[in-house]
Amino acid sequence: MSGPKKKLYLQTFGCQMNVADSEQIAQLLSSEYELTTRPEEADLYIINTCAIRRKSEEKVRSLLGRLKGLKRRHPEMILGVGGCVAQQEGEKLLAQAPHLDLVFGTHGLARLPELVRQAAWRPQVDVAFSEGLASGVRSWKPGAAQAYITIMQGCDNYCTYCVVPYVRGPERSRPPAEVVAEVQDFLAAGGKEVTLLGQNVNSYGRGLKESITFPQLLKQLGRLPGLARLRFATSHPKDLSDELIDLFGKLAPLCEHLHLPVQSGSDRILAAMNRGYTRDQYLELVGKLRRICPDLCLSTDLIVGFPGESEADFEATLSLVKEVGFSQSYCFKFSPRPRTRAAELPEQLPEEVKRVRLNRLLTLQNRLTREANQRLVGQVQEVLVEGTSKKDVTQLSGRLRTNQVVNFSGPPELVGQLVWVELTEAHPHSLKGRWVAEAAA
Ligand code: 5AD
Ligand code: SF4
Repeated sequence: MSGPKKKLYLQTFGCQMNVADSEQIAQLLSSEYELTTRPEEADLYIINTCAIRRKSEEKVRSLLGRLKGLKRRHPEMILGVGGCVAQQEGEKLLAQAPHLDLVFGTHGLARLPELVRQAAWRPQVDVAFSEGLASGVRSWKPGAAQAYITIMQGCDNYCTYCVVPYVRGPERSRPPAEVVAEVQDFLAAGGKEVTLLGQNVNSYGRGLKESITFPQLLKQLGRLPGLARLRFATSHPKDLSDELIDLFGKLAPLCEHLHLPVQSGSDRILAAMNRGYTRDQYLELVGKLRRICPDLCLSTDLIVGFPGESEADFEATLSLVKEVGFSQSYCFKFSPRPRTRAAELPEQLPEEVKRVRLNRLLTLQNRLTREANQRLVGQVQEVLVEGTSKKDVTQLSGRLRTNQVVNFSGPPELVGQLVWVELTEAHPHSLKGRWVAEAAA
């Protein structure tokens, strides 16, 4: 196509999977559109949405309301909504927001360029589920040090609180050859760290023609020259196999960090959530992991105020959090979601109870995070430099292998490099350090 490209403004809510999808959206549309940071000049405005909690959905709805004015001023602009809220609401979104031109779900990314062309003429809705995953489209920027690479999507677990199986559909895995080729491309472009993404990565391989498990995929990738760091998210405790646990501390690039969502410390609530493990089984996994890899940092997700959660149930969560000593937790108030079983349970708790419990949990976790950061002070550790501060380019920011954020001074040329940093100060959610040397590899 000749002439200047049209402008795309892309706004992303939610998890890393959405961030990776948005990168694919930009790639898919790149022959006709280039990204802009200014909504007023957009020819196409796409919102990639999250439906995990009511608050995430409300953010999208209020943004849509605010965009009525922009659409009135620029009636030729195409306004599209994609992702999980689009998948959940489908046609209904168009009825609720008539200034919308396009609603596309989580499965139709490859069809997007055609949909956008059609949407210039009349509103389009495409929320059909399809087999397989969009492939051959990068979800990382060439030259970046760090990439999120989707290896599977969807979930068949049906935790009773969770909307994901409804908005992302059943589990589908990408063929291993395709994953390996994408990681090789990334490494050839100078990349260093890969995070493999999936709602439930432990199930990787189910339903594929070739027989392969998630640990086998990790082993294949771990051998690739140039890969300094390998991570993955999210794994489900009930499927965390011994084969996978054994890789920690053995497979060199595999980082000493595992995000292992526990959700609750009470057996009664874990059963009501349909999580498929008990508190003791979770603790047993943690014990095994720490024996294999003593330096491992564990992070988790927790929900407070699940229907019927008593004070004793909640205290069981607090005691589990203390016992494990998570380096970081993502804590949420239970939010009833459409179609989920937990939304229909009788004993819904008052907002005030959820709020107080969330605060108690956050106070505990903040103390644990600060103490864990404090223990690192004085050590010299490897940091992958991810970027510079917006305000001061000599302020660099990166991550340890164990996932903590480290800020330090150094030349901007270090962005994308592995460097050695002496950790000098612990803050509640990050550390300060002093650049010592560039890493050998
Ligand atoms: N309410 C609150 N938190 C939720 N999560 C998922 N569904 C809900 C819900 N309905 C949390 C879980 C999950 C994380 C991604 O979001 O902790 O692990
Ligand atoms: Fe949701 Fe449970 Fe699947 Fe995670 S495992 S995406 S919480 S249903």
